[in-house]
Amino acid sequence: MILWALFGYLLGSVPFGIVITRAMGLGDLRTIGSGNIGATNVLRTGNKGAALATLLMDSGKGAIAVLLAREFGGETAAALAGGAAFLGHCFPVWLGFKGGKGVATFLGTLAALHWPLGLAACATWALVAAISRISSLSALLAAALTPVLAWGLGRGDIAAVTAFMAALIFLRHHANIRRLLSGTEPRIGRK
Ligand code: G3P
Repeated sequence: MILWALFGYLLGSVPFGIVITRAMGLGDLRTIGSGNIGATNVLRTGNKGAALATLLMDSGKGAIAVLLAREFGGETAAALAGGAAFLGHCFPVWLGFKGGKGVATFLGTLAALHWPLGLAACATWALVAAISRISSLSALLAAALTPVLAWGLGRGDIAAVTAFMAALIFLRHHANIRRLLSGTEPRIGRK
């Protein structure tokens, strides 16, 4: 089991936002916009393709960790690898444990763990984003709703894992929450 956790962590800790922006010559992501390594901040470079690629790869690494672990290790290994991939994104060894806010990896991990819940979280994100045009608010509401929905579906195991992830997502959005409360959080694509 420890090997599945290590595998998930190492996969999750690949900072695709930094890798992609560097490879495309878009500068150092940590000196742009919010300084975060996620797709929302990659979009602030003005390159939509790079942002989409970051979103797909950051969510994909969570999903792949779960799917491979489930295939070869079973359901507990899958949950462990998914949780570890999420932690790897937030605290990557390659960046001195200073990583991202975990939203895309959370969505990818969740989609692979339980696709209807993953779909519900993505739909919540998309609906709030369509109305508010604010990425952080969309992420916070999607993260908060997921454990409640999982509980309602009788999946106490997923409710526990996602409640832990949601708590970490809230902690990592503390600066966004302050800006949301003061009405200064930028809209998607704005600096
Ligand atoms: O997924 C991260 C998003 O919720 C906030 O990103 O760059 O606006 O802090 P950012």
